[in-house]
Amino acid sequence: MKKQLITVFVMAILFALPGKAQKPVYLDDTKSIEDRVKDALSRMTLEEKVKLCHAQSKFSSSGVPRLGIPELWMSDGPHGVREEILWNSWGAAGWTNDSCTAFPALTCLAATWNPEMSAIYGKAIGEEARYRRKDVLLGPGVNIYRTPLNGRNFEFLGEDPFLASTMVVPYIQEVQKNGVAACVKHYALNNQETWRGHINVELSDRALYEIYLPAFKAAVQKGGVWSIMGSYNKVRGQHACHSDLLLQKILKGEWKFDGAVITDWGGAHDTREAALNGLDIEMGSYTDGLISESAFTYDDYYLARPYLQMLKEGKVPMSTIDDKASRVLRLIFRTAMDSKKPWGSFTSEEHNKVSRTVAEEGIVLLKNTPLSKKIPALLPLDGAKYNKILVVGENATRRLTEGGGSSALKVKNEVSPLAGLLAKYGDKVVYAKGYDSGRVMYEKINKIPTSVLDSLRAEAIKQATDADVVIFIGGLNKNHLQDCEAGDRESYALPFGQNELISGLLKVNKKMVMVLISGNAVEMPWVKEVPSILQAWYLGSESGNAIANVLSGEVNPSGKLPFSFPVKLGDNAAHSFGQISYPGDSINQEYKEDILVGYRWHDTKKIPALFSFGHGLGYTSFSYGKAVISDKTMPEDGTLVVTIPVKNIGKVAGKEVVQLYIGDEKCTFARPLKELKGFKKIALAPGEETAVTFTITADDLKFYNDKESKWTAEAGKFKIYIGASSTDIRSTLEFTLQ
Ligand code: BGC
Repeated sequence: MKKQLITVFVMAILFALPGKAQKPVYLDDTKSIEDRVKDALSRMTLEEKVKLCHAQSKFSSSGVPRLGIPELWMSDGPHGVREEILWNSWGAAGWTNDSCTAFPALTCLAATWNPEMSAIYGKAIGEEARYRRKDVLLGPGVNIYRTPLNGRNFEFLGEDPFLASTMVVPYIQEVQKNGVAACVKHYALNNQETWRGHINVELSDRALYEIYLPAFKAAVQKGGVWSIMGSYNKVRGQHACHSDLLLQKILKGEWKFDGAVITDWGGAHDTREAALNGLDIEMGSYTDGLISESAFTYDDYYLARPYLQMLKEGKVPMSTIDDKASRVLRLIFRTAMDSKKPWGSFTSEEHNKVSRTVAEEGIVLLKNTPLSKKIPALLPLDGAKYNKILVVGENATRRLTEGGGSSALKVKNEVSPLAGLLAKYGDKVVYAKGYDSGRVMYEKINKIPTSVLDSLRAEAIKQATDADVVIFIGGLNKNHLQDCEAGDRESYALPFGQNELISGLLKVNKKMVMVLISGNAVEMPWVKEVPSILQAWYLGSESGNAIANVLSGEVNPSGKLPFSFPVKLGDNAAHSFGQISYPGDSINQEYKEDILVGYRWHDTKKIPALFSFGHGLGYTSFSYGKAVISDKTMPEDGTLVVTIPVKNIGKVAGKEVVQLYIGDEKCTFARPLKELKGFKKIALAPGEETAVTFTITADDLKFYNDKESKWTAEAGKFKIYIGASSTDIRSTLEFTLQ
């Protein structure tokens, strides 16, 4: 007995000695995350586990204070780190150290068609998030561009699943190297803002698997994303944030996602479904606060007290909470408790440069036609030739990082297009606003008196009369019913009287360069008359410098469209099937165009687009030689190599995106004419030539066989199309799949 007491005494002293005590496994970062999760879980009470599963403030969820496990801090996303928000409401916290670098909108990133741009973007935004001590960055968004009316397209990566999948992966990987989780959103089918909170999307398995899910799957399986945000809408009758199909069956079942599912803010609607169907963290549900007399607090969330009660009463299994808590702990260990993560950096010169580089690579030159046989195209714009450069349009001066909803940013530095042009061309630049849209408004619209618009228009037209060139900088903006969350555009046309203004300007001056700033396609009734058109997106902090560099030719444009511009709205697939297809009957919606989204529709139905998917010009041109293929037949699980020589035949260095599409010539299932299956961005000096190679695998030929619920390819003939856009095909090949 005495001996035993001595042993206990010695052990107690050993444990109490500083440095000699053994750390609990969950705090020991030499142990695997899985061991740490298990250990932490074993020490927690049921109440503590449930606490992990819901918000404690607008943008944070609780940790386990008793065990020293920290909270999770989240921030929008996806184009910069949002300003600090109040604990308990959407208001700005009013900090003075949170003005960030604004990176270009994701449409611009997609338009670079360059995964290296995704990588530098992800690295820089990840560093900003880390510096600001965020654990979860709410982005990137990969909802497929289905209609040009969707108010949030600017936050996503375009209409093609292959392009979006390729571009999303490096963004996620680089963000996460900072110990900050990316949160890919909005899973899934949040492809419009009209009735986004309740519209029920009905679609085929083929459309789901082939079009709307691949970018999420790539984010999970290739990007290794640590969190995913459910979307607001319903899918086949169930809210996406607790959809058995999307979360249990596909995400966690088929794709083996081991991270945490976070709701969109206010996206949870039912405790039982949330408990059973794979929701892990509930954010943004209604609450009137933490004040003791309030009727509804964070503890009243679906995944708070009501869930605890159901667990205690045995109405939902304990395994649900162990799974959820494990996932949240895993997320915490990967981020907040990663003791080896870097410190990050904020608004550095390097981040500014990343922002400008991505902006410059994403701007798309849509058109640049010579004025006559003898007079060359207006771009690149040589300032020495002109005395008066008239800039017209509100977007030349408007702060376009503001507005748009949750992606709005408070920025340290934003160079407007006018400032960029003034810096480039000096006092030759004269400015006329031309139209006005009022101040930034969310969920309301400004009414601008006609007399104001008339006089702005008259002034611009007067100035244009003796201008040597007119640079029109217009498009959409981030106001309600434009490129903005919580509402779709009401019309495909340009707003605020711009079409009238443009035709007025063209009457007095034909030398017009159009710079369209938008995250969406717009109708262009003046397209034939305007000789040069540039699609600039929401470009972020360095907007004006990027635009000026491209206009002047200091940067040769190399962006390509990540979505099609239909001539008219009715030419877009979703709109071709009437209201039930878009926007639905207010309760339900059917994706009647099925797999024929974007260029798949234009191609297959032979409805020419105004500007095709993948289109984009530069100040040089490229010739494509004849493509060759390694074999004429492909074994069932084999590969083929396709090579094509491409040469810069112009006078300046430039970049080209070589695109490879594949069409299934004969199949018992309907297939689009062709689908993007490869692309490479190459840089060539004048006269330089290179051989571009692509490897085709059996996976590139497959479709989702919804009769057997699996991906298959049918043996037979396939056609390869290689070109500079989806319609500018320069070489084709054929092969047979055995
Ligand atoms: C948006 C999300 C955003 C969240 C938090 C929601 O309204 O749909 O994209 O991350 O708010 O701001």
